[in-house]
Amino acid sequence: MVTFVTTNPGKVAEAEEYLDEPVEQLDFDYPERQAADIATVAAHGARAAYRHANEPVIVDDSGLTIDALDGFPGPYSSYVEDTLGIERVWNIAAEEGNRGGAFRGVVAYCDGDPFEATPEPVDTDRRGDDTAADERADATTDEQVSEGVLPVKLFEGVVPGTIVEPRGSGGFGFDPIFEYDGQTFAEMSRDEKNAVSHRGRALAKFAEWYQGR
Ligand code: IMP
Repeated sequence: MVTFVTTNPGKVAEAEEYLDEPVEQLDFDYPERQAADIATVAAHGARAAYRHANEPVIVDDSGLTIDALDGFPGPYSSYVEDTLGIERVWNIAAEEGNRGGAFRGVVAYCDGDPFEATPEPVDTDRRGDDTAADERADATTDEQVSEGVLPVKLFEGVVPGTIVEPRGSGGFGFDPIFEYDGQTFAEMSRDEKNAVSHRGRALAKFAEWYQGR
């Protein structure tokens, strides 16, 4: 069993579609770290969630990146959605003349145990010392763990697309201005979106690793 620490039950239902085992929701709003990188935000969240739950956890963090804005809003997506709104974000992308973008999501897993280095990035920090959260390492050794380093495993999913004038009434957030393969995410059914979404891609990677573990 794996515990998904999130306030959003929709994410838990989506995770269950990818994993062959039950996913339990722990409705805990862990403090989100401000960082310029979604992976750092997710890694920090996984550590905070693990410390709270004291059992294996996953968390996820995601956002929209706009090529013309060097990846902005990225980890600030929720704030930008609430303040500027998606219509203005579309206008800015259109004015820039480059409408390329992507949704990017990172699922972060933490169970407090050491694990071998893999091709996926592994993020480490010192237990209880958040100032070290940005430290990155490709490997985590038993020795580091015994010294208090808390390993986090990160799984990234990216879906490239085009920023378009708002279309469609489904989904949430930036879905109406994000077009993939001729349709905006807001024009797709839930299943159609999940099959191609950043979160789906990250969850699929996590499920493959977790089940082979
Ligand atoms: P979260 O990290 O998944 O909670 O997402 C943070 C913010 O990114 C959301 O509030 C949205 O603004 C944006 N976002 C993330 N995923 C999606 C998506 O699938 N569709 C639309 N917007 C998204």
